[in-house]
Amino acid sequence: MTNDGFRPLGPSGQVEENDVRPYYLPERKLRLNVARVGGRLYAFAGLCAHERCPLSAGLLRGTTIQCQCHGSTYDLATGAVLTGPATESLAVYEARENQGQIEVKL
Ligand code: FES
Repeated sequence: MTNDGFRPLGPSGQVEENDVRPYYLPERKLRLNVARVGGRLYAFAGLCAHERCPLSAGLLRGTTIQCQCHGSTYDLATGAVLTGPATESLAVYEARENQGQIEVKL
C-alpha cells in the first residue's frame, strides 16, 4: 500500500488496450477487474451485481461492459447500470499507473 492509499495489482503490461483483466485481493477477499480504454484504466467490481457472473468474461464496448450471463450493461466510469436485469450499480475504484505498476485505491 502506498502512502496515498493505492495498492499495486501488477505490471502495467498486464492490461492491454480494450481488454479486461480480473484480479483477486486475498487480504480483502475482493474480486475486481481492470480495463484499459482510450489509454485510461477503469477498475470495477469483479462480479455482476445481478447474479454474480464474472464480468471479466463480459463484452467490453468502449467504456461499457455487458455481462455474458443475462446481458446487463454497466458504465465503467461510474458503475451505473445502463440496461438490466441488474438494478444495482457496480463498485468502481480509482486506478492509475505508477512506475510500471497498475494501482487501485480501495
Ligand atoms: S449475472 Fe450479470 S446480468 Fe445476470
